[in-house]
Amino acid sequence: MDSVKDTIERLRNEINTHNYNYYVCNNPTISDKEFDDLLAELQRLEDANPQYFSPLSPTQRVGSDISESFTQVEHKYPMLSLGNTYTIGEVEAFYNRVSQGLNEHFEIIAELKYDGTSISLTYENGELVRAVTRGDGTKGDDVTANVKTIRSIPLQLRGENYPQSFEIRGEILMPWAVFEKLNNERAAQEEPLFANPRNAASGTLKLQNSAIVAKRGLDAYLYYMLGEDLPSDNHFENLSIANKWGFKISPDTKVCHSLQDMIDYINYWDVERKNLPVATDGIVFKVASIRQQKALGYTAKSPRWAIAYKFQAERACTRLNSVSFQIGRTGAVTPVANLDPVQLSGTVVKRASLHNADIIEGLDLHIGDMVYVEKGGEIIPKITGVDTDARMLLIGDKVRFIKLCPECGTPLIRFEGEAAHYCPNETGCPPQIKGRIEHFISRKAMNIDGIGEETVDAFYKEGLVKSVADLYKLNAFDIANLERMGEKSAQNIIDGINNSHNVPFERVVYAIGIRFVGETVAKKLAYAFKDIDSLMNATKEELIAVDEIGDRIAESVIKYFANESNRSLVEELRAEGLQLKLSEERISMFSDTLKGLSIVISGTFEKHSRDEYKALIEQHGGKNTSSVSAKTHYILAGDNMGPAKLEKTQKLGVKIINENEFLEMIGEL
Ligand code: IVH
Repeated sequence: MDSVKDTIERLRNEINTHNYNYYVCNNPTISDKEFDDLLAELQRLEDANPQYFSPLSPTQRVGSDISESFTQVEHKYPMLSLGNTYTIGEVEAFYNRVSQGLNEHFEIIAELKYDGTSISLTYENGELVRAVTRGDGTKGDDVTANVKTIRSIPLQLRGENYPQSFEIRGEILMPWAVFEKLNNERAAQEEPLFANPRNAASGTLKLQNSAIVAKRGLDAYLYYMLGEDLPSDNHFENLSIANKWGFKISPDTKVCHSLQDMIDYINYWDVERKNLPVATDGIVFKVASIRQQKALGYTAKSPRWAIAYKFQAERACTRLNSVSFQIGRTGAVTPVANLDPVQLSGTVVKRASLHNADIIEGLDLHIGDMVYVEKGGEIIPKITGVDTDARMLLIGDKVRFIKLCPECGTPLIRFEGEAAHYCPNETGCPPQIKGRIEHFISRKAMNIDGIGEETVDAFYKEGLVKSVADLYKLNAFDIANLERMGEKSAQNIIDGINNSHNVPFERVVYAIGIRFVGETVAKKLAYAFKDIDSLMNATKEELIAVDEIGDRIAESVIKYFANESNRSLVEELRAEGLQLKLSEERISMFSDTLKGLSIVISGTFEKHSRDEYKALIEQHGGKNTSSVSAKTHYILAGDNMGPAKLEKTQKLGVKIINENEFLEMIGEL
C-alpha cells in the first residue's frame, strides 16, 4: 500500500506529465474530465494532509487572491533588445557582417518573433525559482506568482541532466482565440478593450491577483537559454533539450545554411504566419554556435550575433464611400471612414478610424478615393494613405471636418493643444445624455440591473428620462408600457433603481461622470473630502493635495461643479436620498494616525492581503509608495521580502515593522 505521501507524489508526477503532453506537446493522452478528476483527488489529499504542501504542486497553478505588488529584481545578464531590419537587403548585410566577423563556417537559426511580452525564468535544482519581466533591461518585476499559473511553463523540470542553475528566456503570449474571447467578455462588461494580444498578455502578467491570471489562458514559448554550463554549444540543440525538460519550444524553428535559406524562411512565414494561433511580428535570426556568439559579442544595446526582421504591417486598398462623425459620452467627435468591404488579416473591414481633423487634412482625402487600410496590431484599423494615381477625373468632394454637431446642431469647439473636436452641448446633445445615463447605471457605478443601451434609448425617446435624476421619477406603469417590456422586467428595473439608494458615496462620485474621474480617483476624492459639499467647494490646492490627484483632474472637478446644471443635478440626487457622504461607520474607520508617513509594503502577509494593507495605510492618512527611498518612513514587511528591497532598506536605515506592529500602530491590535 502506498503511503499518503507516496500517493501525493505519484499524482503530482502523473498530472505534470499530462500537463506537459497537453500544453507543451499538444498531444493529450487523457480526457479533460479524467484530468480534472486527478487534480481534484490531489487537491483533496493535499487539503487533508497540509504537512505535504509544496509550492511546486500542480494544484498551485490556480493562483491566489492575495494581492502582490511586484518586487524589482536585477537581471543577472541584462535583457537586451534586437536590432531591427525591414528589408532582405538589411538581412543580407547582417549575414555579411557575421561572415566577415567570424571568417569560418557558421549556421544561422531562424525563429519566429513572437509578439507578446518577454520573460526571464530562473531554475535552480530543476525548480522554477523566479520569473522576471524585462523591465528596463537591467531590472524587472518579479512576477513569479503569476507565471506559475501558466500551464506550459514547468514548475519542476522533467528528466535529470539539467544544469544546477540556469536562466531561460521567452515570450509570454495570449493566443488569438483567448484574446478575442477576453475582449468579448470585456465589451459585455463595458470594460476597456485590449488593443492587441501583446497588450493583453503584458496587462495580464502585471495583474495583482494571480487567481485572475490563472483564468486568462496565457501561453509561453522559450527561445534563449543562458548560464555557465549549458548542455550544448549549439543554441538550437539547447532548445531541443529544453523541450525534453518540459519547456514549450517553437516547432517552426529552422537551421539555415545559407542566406538563401534565410530568405526562403522569410518568404514562407510572411504568408503562413497568418494561420498561426498566436501573434508574430517578424523573424529572429541567431548565430547557432554559442562560441561564435561570444566571439561576435554585443553592441551597447543588442547582440551582434542576432537580428530581427520585421514583417510589413498588413495593408489593403479599398474605396472610401463616405465619412460619418460620431459623438461619444464626453462630446468628443470621432470621424469614421465607411469603406467598400475588404479582407484584412483574417477579418472583413468596412469602417476605419480617421482619428481627427488634422489626420483628414494631412491625407487630403476625397470621397471615392482608393485608400490604404492597415491593422497595425490595433483592433480598429486605420487609414494610412491614399492611392492618388487611382484618382479619376470625376473625383468626389474633399472630406471636410464638420463644423456643427450632427446630433444637435451645436457649433463644435476645439480645446487648445488638443486634437479632438467636442460638442459643448452637454445637457442637450442626445448621445452625450444617453452616454451619461449608461455610465451612471453601469455595474461599477450605481449598478442598476435590467437597463441596457436599448432601454436607455427607449426611455430617452419617450421623454421619460432626460437626465440621470429622472431615473428616480420612473414608475413601473410607464416602463411596462414601453415596447418589449413586461410588468416583471419593469418591476426589476424599479427594484434596481430603489436599491441604488444604498450605493456608497465613492461610487456616486464615480457615477456622476466627471471627466477623468475613474473608479480609483473617485474613491480617493470621496475618502479625502467625505461629503459632496466639501468636494463641490474644494479649491484646486485642496484637490491637488490628495494623493494621485494632479492638475488635469483637479481642473476637471472644478469645471464640473462650476457648471450650474451639474450643481442642480447634485441637488436633485440629494433630494432623492442618494448617499452623498461617507457613512459615520466608514468615517470612524479613518484617522490621521499615519499622517505624513510614507510606507512601503513588501512580502506576503497572514492577516490581510497587500491591497487591504494599502487601503489601511490610506484610511489612516498615510501614503503607500512602491519603492524604498530616503523619504520612506517604514517598510511594512511580511514573509519573503524581496532581496533588493531588503538591501536598499538596510542601506538607507529605514525602519522595518511587521504586520502586528503595524496593526498596533493603527489601533487594530
Ligand atoms: S532573442 C539577445 N528570440 O523580441 C536575444 N527574441 O527585440 C534576445 N522576441 O525582447 C531575444 N521572439 O521579447 C528572441 N524568437 C525570439 C523572439 C524574441 C520574440 C522578442 C523578445 C525580445 C524582442 C527583441
